[in-house]
Amino acid sequence: MAPLDGQNGVWKSGKGKGRKTPKGRQFGDDALAVVQDLLGTLPRRRDLLIEFLHLIQDRLGHLSVENLCALAHEMCLSQAEVYEVATFYAHFDVVKEDETPPPALTIRICDSLSCELAGAGQLRAALEQGLDPAQVRVLRAPCMGRCDTAPVLELGHNHVDHATPEKVKVAIAAKATSPTIPDYQDCADYTAQGGYETLATLRDGVEWTKVQDTILASGLRGLGGAGFPSGKKWEFVRANPGPRYLAVNGDEGEPGTFKDRYYLERTPHLMLEGMLIAAWAIEADKVFIYMRDEYPAVRHILTTEIAALEAAGIVAPGYIDLRRGAGAYICGEESAMIESIEGKRGLPRHRPPYVAEVGIFGQPTLVHNVETLHWIARICREGPEVLAGTEKNGRAGLRSYSVSGRVTNPGVYLLPAGSTIVDVIKAAGGMAAGHVFKAYQPGGPSSGLLPASIDDVPLDFDTLQPLGTFIGSAAVVVLSDQDRARDAALNMLRFFEDESCGQCTPCRVGCEKAVKLMQADTWDQGLLEELCQVMGDASICGLGQAAPNPIRLVMQHFGDEV
Ligand SMILES: Cc1cc2nc3c(=O)[nH]c(=O)nc-3n(C[C@H](O)[C@H](O)[C@H](O)COP(=O)(O)O)c2cc1C
Ligand code: SF4
Ligand code: FES
Repeated sequence: MAPLDGQNGVWKSGKGKGRKTPKGRQFGDDALAVVQDLLGTLPRRRDLLIEFLHLIQDRLGHLSVENLCALAHEMCLSQAEVYEVATFYAHFDVVKEDETPPPALTIRICDSLSCELAGAGQLRAALEQGLDPAQVRVLRAPCMGRCDTAPVLELGHNHVDHATPEKVKVAIAAKATSPTIPDYQDCADYTAQGGYETLATLRDGVEWTKVQDTILASGLRGLGGAGFPSGKKWEFVRANPGPRYLAVNGDEGEPGTFKDRYYLERTPHLMLEGMLIAAWAIEADKVFIYMRDEYPAVRHILTTEIAALEAAGIVAPGYIDLRRGAGAYICGEESAMIESIEGKRGLPRHRPPYVAEVGIFGQPTLVHNVETLHWIARICREGPEVLAGTEKNGRAGLRSYSVSGRVTNPGVYLLPAGSTIVDVIKAAGGMAAGHVFKAYQPGGPSSGLLPASIDDVPLDFDTLQPLGTFIGSAAVVVLSDQDRARDAALNMLRFFEDESCGQCTPCRVGCEKAVKLMQADTWDQGLLEELCQVMGDASICGLGQAAPNPIRLVMQHFGDEV
């Protein structure tokens, strides 16, 4: 029998269903053209997915599913992979076929603790009533690292400090949606003052262990919150064969913390030189800076100054890769940050292996906080005494306390690491007029709240653990007699509920249940304690493990309120 038997090219019996299109959602040529235009000649690498999503969101104001499908096609990724990443991050607006895109203008109002104390709730209500929702969208958002000028909101990419409805209306009328770039020390000035001479000397053939000894002698510990001795970390990373990477953690999402922004908006090259010294010490093949999306001015400064470093021949073009976060607190946790740098959802990894062994792209990675690197530059230039030379209350070193809440002059204060809350409040000009000191958050919501009666403990690493708390990133928020500790703790748990990555049940469900239980007039303290136990014992990362701190400390010290 002849193979086609007169059926002219039809091999199938006709029972199967031939497909004209691939499976899944479809996209048109126009959507693909937009994506191809935006990506230009950029390499279609998986790790750049979040950067590409930003390109589309910035141009179109949202991410339509059609554009997401076209992007998946262009990058040879599954649609599910692109969708799961796009929907993980708060700053991406995914719009399905039957949904209306958001209006051109978005206002994000910070509702974390310092802004809430300063009236963010009333501000939000006023704006929701006073603005046309078809023109302007009003969203709540977590801490923007500007707690010293609370309440704060972001109009487009323009932050409005000490925000009022009137200020917002003026800004809208003026179409003021771009960030204000502060005055800062640029590359030329930094170099003229002797900047990068230390780096040049080290690169000239100094043994890296000499620098390690200097860093260890200074007593520098990780200022992202974990407090690990910085010099030791270099050794762990170096113990693993290369290629090795350095990742700078610029996520600074812990509510109440704004020290990294403070330094980057003034002296960015101290961080950059410290970063290049650390990269030299571990022989890093490449450096990634992960900068939160909430700091557009800092991203502008870094883009400009990295270009200046390349032009000056201090780094090879492309050696420093500046990456943009997309609104996810959890990406400050180092392994989640690494996932995000790889273009994925920010889900913390299980440990071991530690990122020093298996980090970015599976390679040994050194992760440092912005301020840690700032001090590495200063220690290498000024000697270990710049930190170790200060002693107070039996503690050595200095701390940059971010201070906000009910104080006269909120701001960043560089004080001896042995400072107590009394010293910190004094540095910040004392209590705000009409307020009596009642309680304080020593180091971000993860640290919970302590009562004013505990006022003689140095706010440093290791000193607060016996009290069931820790200093973390030294984000001090001061509460007064006009505030309720239980409301502050609820604010903190709401933050964790929003920001839990959802990967593990004790944290995802635990935060949600805690928020519900904490809204009752009388707390079910037995049940809450059980919940705290499970969250602390069984959560994968520090977010879920520390989230019980505010609950427990309020039950312990402010029992009359709950
Ligand atoms: C939930 C969570 C959030 C974190 N957020 C940050 C952050 O925003 N910035 C930061 O530098 N470290 C943050 N860390 C700590 C990092 O995981 C890591 O310890 C730090 O970046 C290491 O740098 P360092 O040794 O210089 O402090 C966070 C940790 C956890 C558990
Ligand atoms: S503890 Fe929370 S944030 Fe951390 S991995 Fe689990 S769900 Fe995610
Ligand atoms: S900017 Fe609002 S609490 Fe930090």
